[in-house]
Amino acid sequence: FSLKEYNTFGVDVMARKFISVHQTNELRDVLQQAYASDIFVLGGGSNMLLTKDINKTVIHIGLKGIELISENPNEVILKVGAGENWHQFVLYCIEKGYGGLENLSLIPGNVGTAPVQNIGAYGVELKDSFESCEAMRIQTLEVDTFSAEQCEFGYRNSVFKNKLKGEYIITSVNFKLSKKNHKLSTSYGAIQAELDKHKIKEPTIRNISNAVVNIRQQKLPDPRELGNSGSFFKNPVITESEFKKLQKQFPEMPFYAIHANQIKIPAGWLIDQAGLKGYRKGDAAVHKNQALVLVNYGGATGQEILALSKEIQEKIYNKYKIKLEAEVNIF
Ligand code: EPU
Repeated sequence: FSLKEYNTFGVDVMARKFISVHQTNELRDVLQQAYASDIFVLGGGSNMLLTKDINKTVIHIGLKGIELISENPNEVILKVGAGENWHQFVLYCIEKGYGGLENLSLIPGNVGTAPVQNIGAYGVELKDSFESCEAMRIQTLEVDTFSAEQCEFGYRNSVFKNKLKGEYIITSVNFKLSKKNHKLSTSYGAIQAELDKHKIKEPTIRNISNAVVNIRQQKLPDPRELGNSGSFFKNPVITESEFKKLQKQFPEMPFYAIHANQIKIPAGWLIDQAGLKGYRKGDAAVHKNQALVLVNYGGATGQEILALSKEIQEKIYNKYKIKLEAEVNIF
């Protein structure tokens, strides 16, 4: 079974067996019949690079549904199936007037994988609207509930990428969203510029969603047209003293102070300044508008994309002595 249509990089690898599950009970049945070591869980396939055939049973999480759990004049809590498409869900919220996710418009992938890496964009992270999630423990087939605190969210990080890696399958996510007095996040320069361009003084959540969609469409390739997994690398965090040294050499380098003694540097800038924007090897390439994104022009294998990523890591290390870490999961 080819997974080409199931990963946004569009890499053509084979799975030994492929099962799509639509109910929690179905998921339980499938897990009961397989060894934990013999399964590979697939959500939206938007944050992974597959480098070889998967000699396992691939379980595609197709759990759907949006359910209203509770509501008061100010807020709602929605329970959303892990297999719902992320952007479709964001649009649903905008339609209903529920605020909180508008800055996260147009992020590829599904609801169930969003907490794993605490997706984020334009000043907002998933954790800001996250109430809880349910996840099935592969070993015991029990469903446990995780609070935000138990998820240990960090920058593109959570407990599901660390301590509990490979142990749970997220089946649904509860979101707490505002019905009025939305807390809008317009501090990101590009959003403000987009609102100014359309002369919008008092933006609605829909205005912000539209602004984000426009910004993303200008910079980020649409995976349906050009295979990619969004940012391939994390933005590296370095110490103040490392930063001071680099800044002398590269005074133009953008940066964000995140904590005392922790400075985040945009990896896209580093790659761009190293002359690698648009760099192409066969069908694997660095995107021409956003150097943090690697793309597949059609025929690239996972191995070729991986080799390109290693070449970039090496060049960046040689130039800046910074180690870039992949943001995408590599299998
Ligand atoms: N830059 C360049 N050249 C490039 C790319 C970026 O000089 O080719 C510079 C920009 O000019 C800007 C800075 O780098 O000064 C930051 O760029 P941008 O605002 O595009 O954001 P980013 O740091 O590259 C991060 C997230 C994105 C998210 C945007 C907006 C990570 C790893 N990436 O990118 O998330 O959409 O901020 O908030 O944190 C993703 O995770 O897949 C993703 C797309």
